[in-house]
Amino acid sequence: MTAPKPSELAFVPFVSVENMMKLVHYIGIEAMLRGLGDYIEDDFRRWELFDKTPRVASHSEEGVIELMPTSDGEVYGFKYVNGHPKNIHDGLQTVTAFGLLARVGTGYPVLLSEMTVLTAMRTAASSAMVAKHLAPKGARCMAVIGNGAQSEFQALAMKAICGIDTLRMYDIDSRATEKAMRNLDKFGLSMTACRTPEEAMEGAQIITTCTADKQYATILTDNMVGAGIHINAIGGDCPGKTELHRDILSRSTVFVEYPPQTRIEGEIQQMPEDFPVTEMWQVINGTAPGRVNDNQITLFDGVGFAIEDFSALRYVWGRIKETGFYQDLDMVADPDDPRDLFGMLLRSGK
Ligand SMILES: NC(=O)c1ccc[n+]([C@@H]2O[C@H](COP(=O)([O-])OP(=O)(O)OC[C@H]3O[C@@H](n4cnc5c(N)ncnc54)[C@H](O)[C@@H]3O)[C@@H](O)[C@H]2O)c1
Repeated sequence: MTAPKPSELAFVPFVSVENMMKLVHYIGIEAMLRGLGDYIEDDFRRWELFDKTPRVASHSEEGVIELMPTSDGEVYGFKYVNGHPKNIHDGLQTVTAFGLLARVGTGYPVLLSEMTVLTAMRTAASSAMVAKHLAPKGARCMAVIGNGAQSEFQALAMKAICGIDTLRMYDIDSRATEKAMRNLDKFGLSMTACRTPEEAMEGAQIITTCTADKQYATILTDNMVGAGIHINAIGGDCPGKTELHRDILSRSTVFVEYPPQTRIEGEIQQMPEDFPVTEMWQVINGTAPGRVNDNQITLFDGVGFAIEDFSALRYVWGRIKETGFYQDLDMVADPDDPRDLFGMLLRSGK
């Protein structure tokens, strides 16, 4: 007798990198960024019902490997993600990721997905969703400091969600700026390559910092940041890794995802433990103020939180059946008689 065919539940839809890219093109990059932003905003609105924990990080000299779990009580999700700033010197990416959703009721997985592309999309969608709430009204021009892998996604999300139409780009490596401008050529943005970060700030109402350095870095100093600006700082996302001078933090109203994680990993790791922050979910559900005047500097100290990945996976899960951009993986051993796992193994050898 041969082993019985696995049941339906044993097959888990798997979204490969190739299928993720097909899905993005099918939906349209900007439409998908808007869709992700809506899902993330919805989950921020129901923030209180989620299981929350700072991510579980394994640090090394070269970088970090992290697990990011959460659950809304019905569905559980986690992401595996790394951050290795030196990787680009070996022709490898700084950040790669994959993630999984499972039903809380049975523990059976329902989705396994690549998340390297999806993380860039969700990070950008989160940044832009936050900027929609905090940036000065009518903001059109953004400075992008750090023109690596995340930068084009950040630019397009700010365009799609906030109406940004002008970019001022700076990177210590001008080849990165050339690459980003080439990639963004067809998206109807007006772009200027800048020789210094100061030059990039000129006329910008939003500043995005997305640089990668394992050490404390000072990408922005206090004198570079004028009144009324919104800063979207996403590159500092690990202990010992920051981008802003602490004087900027003292002058800003700081908004965060999940304080226990951000106090370890974000820009505010430079500040005392009781440094005041506003939780972004409270701004979104109307229980805390966002921007209150035109001169205020608002700062999103974005480190990336598990709920944003959960939202992104939930979005993908909702779109794959209709599009067919997935493969079924025979991932869960599922014997007919649940107590006869060994018998299933024996029968498969015949
Ligand atoms: N907050 C989040 O949710 C989130 C998500 C993804 C990535 N990140 C972080 O964002 C950062 C950027 O990620 P990436 O994938 O784009 O990395 P990347 O290595 O592809 O690009 C980083 C760029 O920053 C440039 N750079 C380094 N130091 C600079 C400086 N002093 N001034 C200007 N440019 C400088 C590099 O030349 C490079 O082009 C990383 O630190 C990553 O960990 C955060």
